[in-house]
Amino acid sequence: MAFLQKLVFLLTLLSCLVGLGSAAPLRARPRDPPPPAITPVPLRLTAQQDSFNFDLSTTLVLPTSTMQPLQTVPPHCAMYNSLQSECPTSFEAVNVTYDDCGDAWTVCRCSTANMTMDTAVERLGRIPVGLRRYVATVVVAPDTQTHAYTLTSGDIHMFGDTQVDSWVHEAGHAYDWATGSPLSGTPEWQKAIDSDTCVPDTYSATSAGEDFAQMTVMKVYSLIHENSLPEGWSLDCMSHQMDYMNGLPVFNKAELFGNTCAIAGSDPSSRHSTPPPVTPTRVQPDFPAQVQPNSPLKSGLAAVEDKGEKTPTNKDSAALSTYITDVKSVLFAGGAVLGWLMW
Ligand SMILES: *[C@@H]1O[C@H](CO)[C@@H](O)[C@H](O)[C@H]1NC(C)=O
Ligand SMILES: *[C@@H]1O[C@H](CO)[C@@H](O)[C@H](O)[C@H]1NC(C)=O
Repeated sequence: MAFLQKLVFLLTLLSCLVGLGSAAPLRARPRDPPPPAITPVPLRLTAQQDSFNFDLSTTLVLPTSTMQPLQTVPPHCAMYNSLQSECPTSFEAVNVTYDDCGDAWTVCRCSTANMTMDTAVERLGRIPVGLRRYVATVVVAPDTQTHAYTLTSGDIHMFGDTQVDSWVHEAGHAYDWATGSPLSGTPEWQKAIDSDTCVPDTYSATSAGEDFAQMTVMKVYSLIHENSLPEGWSLDCMSHQMDYMNGLPVFNKAELFGNTCAIAGSDPSSRHSTPPPVTPTRVQPDFPAQVQPNSPLKSGLAAVEDKGEKTPTNKDSAALSTYITDVKSVLFAGGAVLGWLMW
């Protein structure tokens, strides 16, 4: 009799675990971003500035686009639609086709999101196509604070009112992780960091991965500003990190702004590579270099208003750490069952 009760309990518990198995890690702590793919190790380098005070929204060209509403919200968006999750109301999903690519980007927007669908489509479109092709699905959700994170799948989740530099930052993460083995985890990137004395800003110092994403923003900026950095930043103390960026194929300027996501010799990890029916002839304009102050590390010029809304709190995420969380809960439940059976 006691054994039967225990068996029923065991089966109930198992069925709970099976039910939780697929979604539990994401719903367990819904307001938190998924766990980082790699435990972030802060960099012991000086931040040149507190945060980024420049925006790329008026300088990066905007491709034209068409939106096709989707009848059903894709599962990897729908799973974030619950009272406790990222979207408490409902998602609207569209496929956006930009004139520079033959296949669409799926954007899921929560009905209460701060950014409108048009805003999200515009900001996504301003990410240079050579980098944008690594972005998978975009989720746009509401929050009192502006932040974002990128999953190792290339999916990007945006909260609040993320500016274009943050979109480029997240695309940098998607590119970093595109092959499943992050560039920011390579000995070469670590060597570049170790050879320098500074990082772009406070957020860059969070980890090698965040530094990679912020350097991506810096590199994109420099490519359209005669290879210069924004006012208030110096190359001297982070030249090895920039050299590493310079060597990445994605930053070949002709391809990055080449008006097509079908890049010759394209690496297979790009998520959008179908050529557009007609390749646009748009030209990404060049802007003049900024005047560099004499003492870039303490220029004082950085005291330009920082509303705090531009400081991204981006997080990586990976199935790996999710998996570990899962194993832990299974072990915990297993222990509880064992205790019960032996009691
Ligand atoms: C929407 O875009 C995604 C990603 O390109 C694609 O896989 C999917 O088939 C598209 N859906 C429709 C209905 O066109
Ligand atoms: C987003 O919108 C909500 C509701 O209007 C508002 O309370 C919140 O402050 C907004 N978030 C940001 C980052 O502006």
